[in-house]
Amino acid sequence: MNKNLRPAVIAGNWKMNKTPAEATALIEDMKPLVANANCDVVVCVPYVDLQAALDATKGSNIRVGAENVHWAKSGAFTGEISAEMLTSMGVEYVIIGHSERRTYFGETDATVNQRVRAALDAGMTVILCVGEVKEERLSGITDEVVAVQTKLDLAGVTADELKKVIIAYEPVWAIGTGLTATPAQAEETCGVIRKVLAGMYGADVADTVTIQYGGSMNAKNAAELLSQPNVDGGLIGGASLKPADFATIVAAASI
Ligand code: PGA
Repeated sequence: MNKNLRPAVIAGNWKMNKTPAEATALIEDMKPLVANANCDVVVCVPYVDLQAALDATKGSNIRVGAENVHWAKSGAFTGEISAEMLTSMGVEYVIIGHSERRTYFGETDATVNQRVRAALDAGMTVILCVGEVKEERLSGITDEVVAVQTKLDLAGVTADELKKVIIAYEPVWAIGTGLTATPAQAEETCGVIRKVLAGMYGADVADTVTIQYGGSMNAKNAAELLSQPNVDGGLIGGASLKPADFATIVAAASI
């Protein structure tokens, strides 16, 4: 396959967990455990933890990301954070379109697309989340759902800009539930996303895009999921808060 055409990326998504002091402690614990990684390692943390995470990761192989970003450069958007605010701190990555944002905070493919555009314009690397809910999988429309999300969320993104996009396939029914997609399901749907990208950008470009699986990936199931030809990494929620488990997943992606 073409796995050597794209970097493996393991990214933690801390969600709404950890104070700045706790973030420092967690990263200090994690650093030595992932120092020999042969994949890209990212921690996406709450806004208030970003500076602590940047300080703690300085000089290490861990990169820092935010969990969302607003689409406007500045303005009357109480409670929001712009891409420039993030890049000015040294934050390189940002998760966009996470299902928790879509479900609880009214994100749509249109706003996800606007956020993607703003992050790319600012030079950030985007981790774009797509995935079906349980009813959609049971109705047999998973492929259509992820195809539509991928197309709408990437509208207007050029092949050159796509170099800074990682796609995270996250079946919503698997997030935080302990229900993991089987390796075959993860492989199949990541493959569908790559086909959609091939249709949009050509197969050569699609082969260079990192596609992660996310949804209850843990120290036990990571190796098998990551060995699938189209699964190039993971977006890790719960297990990213446990340094030893996160390091085991990083090691599984480093082979
Ligand atoms: P989980 O979360 O690993 O806790 O299922 C994954 C995610 O939401 O990105």
